[in-house]
Amino acid sequence: MSNHFQRYTVTAALPYANGPKHIGHLAGAYIPADVYVRYLRLNGKDVVFVSGSDEHGTAIPNQALKENTTSWAIIDKYDAQIRDSFYKLGMSFDIYHRTSEPIHHQTSQELFLNLFHKGLLNEEISEQYFDEEAKVFLADRYIMGTCPRCGHPDAYGDQCEKCGSTLSPRELIDPRSTLSGKPPVLRPTKHWYLPLQNYENWLKEWILVSHKEDWKANVYGQCKSWIDGGLQPRAMTRDLDWGIKVPLPDADGKVLYVWFDAPIGYISATRALFQEMAEGVKKFSSPQRDFGKVDKADWKKYWQDEETKLVHFIGKDNIVFHCIIFPIMLHVSGEYILPDNVPANEFMNLEGDKMSTSRGWSIEMHEYIEDFPDKPDVLRYALLTNLPETKDSEFTWKDFQAKNNNELVAIFGNFVNRALVLTQKYFDNKIPALGSLTEIDKKAILELKDFPSRIEDSIEGYRFREATALVMDLARLGNKYLAETEPWKLAKTDLPRVGTILNIALQISANLAVLVEPFLPFTSIKLKKMLQLDSFVWQQAGNLLLTEGHTLGEPKLLFEKIEDEVIAAQIRKLNDKKNAMELASQPVEPAKPEISFDDFSKMDIRIGKINTAERVEKSKKLLRLQVDTGLDVRTVMSGIAEYFSPEELVGKQVTILVNLAPRKIMGVESQGMILMATDKDGTLRLLQPTEPVSPGSKIS
Ligand code: 2FM
Ligand code: ZN
Repeated sequence: MSNHFQRYTVTAALPYANGPKHIGHLAGAYIPADVYVRYLRLNGKDVVFVSGSDEHGTAIPNQALKENTTSWAIIDKYDAQIRDSFYKLGMSFDIYHRTSEPIHHQTSQELFLNLFHKGLLNEEISEQYFDEEAKVFLADRYIMGTCPRCGHPDAYGDQCEKCGSTLSPRELIDPRSTLSGKPPVLRPTKHWYLPLQNYENWLKEWILVSHKEDWKANVYGQCKSWIDGGLQPRAMTRDLDWGIKVPLPDADGKVLYVWFDAPIGYISATRALFQEMAEGVKKFSSPQRDFGKVDKADWKKYWQDEETKLVHFIGKDNIVFHCIIFPIMLHVSGEYILPDNVPANEFMNLEGDKMSTSRGWSIEMHEYIEDFPDKPDVLRYALLTNLPETKDSEFTWKDFQAKNNNELVAIFGNFVNRALVLTQKYFDNKIPALGSLTEIDKKAILELKDFPSRIEDSIEGYRFREATALVMDLARLGNKYLAETEPWKLAKTDLPRVGTILNIALQISANLAVLVEPFLPFTSIKLKKMLQLDSFVWQQAGNLLLTEGHTLGEPKLLFEKIEDEVIAAQIRKLNDKKNAMELASQPVEPAKPEISFDDFSKMDIRIGKINTAERVEKSKKLLRLQVDTGLDVRTVMSGIAEYFSPEELVGKQVTILVNLAPRKIMGVESQGMILMATDKDGTLRLLQPTEPVSPGSKIS
């Protein structure tokens, strides 16, 4: 590895703990970060890998409102869910922290005061929207109105989700508060602003000149357009009752802006890690992290020493905060290092549409884990081979299946399995001797040698797709080698030659076990077990790692085929979820005009039981029912044939209006009406008592 850094601080965006996170988030930040860190660790580098839950901002109370609970309950619920999913998918954070922790509040307040005391924050009074009914200043997300750019009637105060424009609340036409629905009024309020424009020249030098070559084009391009467009002062505080208190007198009801405190979360997570290590107590740090001998204050080396390489892994929507605002904060504090790189990814779409939890068009991490509990690596592989590194990419279930069946099973798994099974069959599961080498053998060994440095180049250049493809190419090399040498045909005539071939095939397998670790860590563990392989470090890869006579473990299949039905079920599930969400978001029909109790009491509604049900000739909708009302058994014509088969209705209890005047329907007199619930999409459901009651029971 070719750089001068002594240690690494790697961060992965702190996800908002306001809901589940989907596989697009994994592809954006977490999987690339995890591969990078695992690779560094295999290289024996000193690295801390931090992330955690972002538990502030309006997103949290917003969700509490939707779920009719408290902000605390929301962050506890989703922090636990996201933490568990990350762990099951193999994210190897040294610490996964929470921004609600006191150490984070303290670290954020310290940095705020550092800037404040240096006179770097400007106090300003401005007019902001206030909801007179709810008696609160409204955060941007709590104001809706018509988008001035595209006319969309439901744009938010910070963004129009229809046309994607970034907005400010004052630009909205006919603004309304989402809390009361009323138009908000403007009221003066005091806030502390970071004058981003003062650092334009510094940013030009730091990003546009110094990082022209090594930052990704998508990241560099976004930074350039922000800087070229001119920066504006940005408020670092908000009027909100959820968040980190502004540590100043006269700042009641004011909290730090969530984008001020969230990135500081990386620093407080590192502080917490060292505190836990020093005290020997694990709360948020990983069970895998070796405690060693550390001092609580050692965290500073990872943030304040120029010999540390700081890398932020994020999705593209976070670029401005990690490349402009947070670096300015770090820079002006005078104490902190700056990121060496911010390899942000673009977005991953899903089956032809944007991924979105709120629209139900998503595969949430926990949903995947529930359906494929033993396949974390298959998801990692499907995402890695399709990362949105230079442009948006697309996940489809068919592609997921193809990647599993045609690559993991047919190439990787198949190769390793052939090498192991043949060794078991012909050599009693022991590594056979390497005899004299043919040209084919030498070529395979030579090609193998090159792989580690090629993979290394790709990882160090943040090209994880390419790196993953190389690992699969190594398995391809193994498959090709076996296909060319055909050891299974030689067993009867030349067993020593079979031994040489299998020795080489097993050496390639052992290299795969080492090199695949950053990408597919669970597979690496399984494969090492089958090969009875000790831990090797990255630098040893490329060589012959197994010695003659070494006994192997039991060969097992590394991957299994995923059948068409499984994939079809996932596609159905996705569509069902979207439809259910759409339905839930449709408005409920408004109430009818008021009636008196007398009006109501004129209706005689009873519980009846369906004795018989039959289709009506020439009608798609009608069923002819015989209903026992307790008073009599009567005929009711009911328009429910599209929703119920006659067989399933017989014997069911139903709700029936018995004093409705008889009507002739298709020549038959109908005496009463079966009551139904009509869902938003028109689906009909029977209304039944939760326990059986005697026919004729009155409803009142
Ligand atoms: O976009 C988000 O989900 C933010 N919660 C990311 C924060 S990253 C960092 F600044 F903490
Ligand atoms: Zn718009």
